[in-house]
Amino acid sequence: IASLNGSSSGQWLQYARDMESAGADALEFNLQQAVFDHMETSNDIEARMCDLIGQVREMVAIPVAAKISQRYTNLSSMTNQLRRMGVAGLVLFTHMPQWDVSTDRMHWTINWELSPVNSLGGILEGIVCARAGDQTMSIAASGGVSTAEDAIKSMIAGADVVMVTSAVYRGGPDAIRDIVDGIERHVELSRFQTLQEFRDACPRNHSGDEKSVRLEYIDPLTRNQAYFDPTPVISRHTCDSFGHQN
Ligand SMILES: Cc1cc2nc3c(=O)[nH]c(=O)nc-3n(C[C@H](O)[C@H](O)[C@H](O)COP(=O)(O)O)c2cc1C
Repeated sequence: IASLNGSSSGQWLQYARDMESAGADALEFNLQQAVFDHMETSNDIEARMCDLIGQVREMVAIPVAAKISQRYTNLSSMTNQLRRMGVAGLVLFTHMPQWDVSTDRMHWTINWELSPVNSLGGILEGIVCARAGDQTMSIAASGGVSTAEDAIKSMIAGADVVMVTSAVYRGGPDAIRDIVDGIERHVELSRFQTLQEFRDACPRNHSGDEKSVRLEYIDPLTRNQAYFDPTPVISRHTCDSFGHQN
């Protein structure tokens, strides 16, 4: 699967055809929103993105997947629009840099970072919303998948496959082996004979947004446990080079 990033039409789209000629089986097109016009509405932006992916789609015969931003007001609608443009799959989501402000320079800065572990929530929510918009679209979860459990959760939420980058940067290629082994173990211990059977049993008809919105209110109103704090705990103990605590 070859991958292209872009935000506007032009001669450079020819690269899609070049990638197909070079032997790519499919193309992932990372739709960068690149909004410069403050008057451009979200409708205009969605139409521009759909038009761009439509042009790519017409240039090649191989399947085209769209990698999109998490920042759509109605992801189900965007999924539907992309499906109508002939997009075969969605990659959820584009990786975003972290914004910060330099207090010395009194200016904003942008940093690219690896995804933190335990950061799957937004992707799971996105998959459920996209699935609500299209039951048949092929969906890849990308962003925060670092363990077999993350992959299994993504599949239950509605993903067909997962993509893994940060975990490979952290743990090398073994990260993939661990995820594959973990998925196999999960299926072996389950009531399913094969991964396909497990995937067929995953809920496709999600209850829809109204129930999710209610859950978001019910949890804080009914919980009797303290809120989970995701801030990493840094030990106050210091050690010598042999690991002996001082
Ligand atoms: C070092 C690095 C380089 C990346 N380069 C690209 C790229 O060229 N094009 C792209 O679409 N995404 C790129 N990404 C984003 C990944 O494809 C992926 O969307 C992101 O890392 C989230 O997945 P993860 O949580 O498994 O890391 C890059 C990510 C990292 C960490």
